[in-house]
Amino acid sequence: MSAAATPLLSVRDLRIRFSTRDQGGTVKAVDGVSFDVLPGETFGVIGESGSGKTTLGRALVSLLPPTEGSILHDGVELASLSRKELREQRRHYQIVFQDPNAALNPRQRILDSVCEPLEIAGGLGRDEIRRRALDALSRVGIPAEYASRYPHMLSGGQKQRINIARVLTVRPKLIVCDEVVAALDVSIRGDVLNLFADLQREFGLTYVFITHDLSVVSHVSDRVAVTYLGRFMELGPTEDVCERPLHPYTEALMSAEPIPLPSTMRTARRIVLEGEIPSPIDPPSGCRFRTRCPQAQPECAQRVPDWRELRPGHWVACHFSTPDGPPGRPAS
Ligand SMILES: Nc1ncnc2c1ncn2[C@@H]1O[C@H](COP(=O)(O)OP(=O)(O)OP(=O)(O)O)[C@@H](O)[C@H]1O
Ligand code: SF4
Ligand SMILES: [Mg+2]
Repeated sequence: MSAAATPLLSVRDLRIRFSTRDQGGTVKAVDGVSFDVLPGETFGVIGESGSGKTTLGRALVSLLPPTEGSILHDGVELASLSRKELREQRRHYQIVFQDPNAALNPRQRILDSVCEPLEIAGGLGRDEIRRRALDALSRVGIPAEYASRYPHMLSGGQKQRINIARVLTVRPKLIVCDEVVAALDVSIRGDVLNLFADLQREFGLTYVFITHDLSVVSHVSDRVAVTYLGRFMELGPTEDVCERPLHPYTEALMSAEPIPLPSTMRTARRIVLEGEIPSPIDPPSGCRFRTRCPQAQPECAQRVPDWRELRPGHWVACHFSTPDGPPGRPAS
């Protein structure tokens, strides 16, 4: 990964809102997010349920249009593309979801499901499509005899491998992985994560890895962004964020993580966050974490924290963090 590489993905002040009649307002699911993803890296996105991770992931692969802000694929602004150009561009940016059944038609044989994205893309003959689909199945460790089976005859882990094969056939540059191991038995999660790592090496893939599981993000990501109510609280190299967090929210997440993290990545004191995550319809003024922040000051309600780079490549949105860590830490 070169620091000078052109980003494969550039996101600038992205906002995505949903109008909801039942909840009586506008949900600010993603509310001002900016970042780049470089070729070949794994960019982790972590946050609690409802923090906007899936909404962000869907927008990155142009399944959802931005309400405001912009998304660039390989330097090209998506909003500037015609429908035809957008369809072509989309092929290179794929997504795999948490639910292994989400993309599989229960009445379709496995091979037909894996052929489907190439058939939709067009331009290849039937034999070449089958050949590529069988190659992809073999590459993800699914034996050829499974090709004629139906999804209900497979385990969750096997179905997730088939979902990976589906997106591999179109030879993507970037894959958004949205909680891809969350629905799987703990005993096979490691195998599926290793498969993602192997495919990355083999095909030079770039990943955006979305998860609420700290042990997953620390295992796979080069950099990680910590989200809260639609905004990033912190972004930096994964090891630095996990071992020496800058934001009180990240510090609390780290301290709450039970066993899977190595002891060096756990903080000594356990910080229990009080209260529920507030509604994204009406997030708190100023710093949106202030209603649960153990370090909140009156100023936190008045002003939105600036996005500050306190260590090289390590950014934070808190008025009082210093390069030594979150507020409340004695200077080292
Ligand atoms: N289509 C939609 N219409 C209305 N509200 C939506 C829609 N999609 C998502 N939301 C709302 O946007 C917010 C963010 O949802 P999102 O699914 O992106 O969160 P998430 O971080 O992926 O959560 P989880 O960890 O539970 O998957 C939530 O409040 C959710 O209810
Ligand atoms: S700005 Fe204030 S409320 Fe927000 S994280 Fe920092 S100390 Fe806590
Ligand atoms: Mg989600």
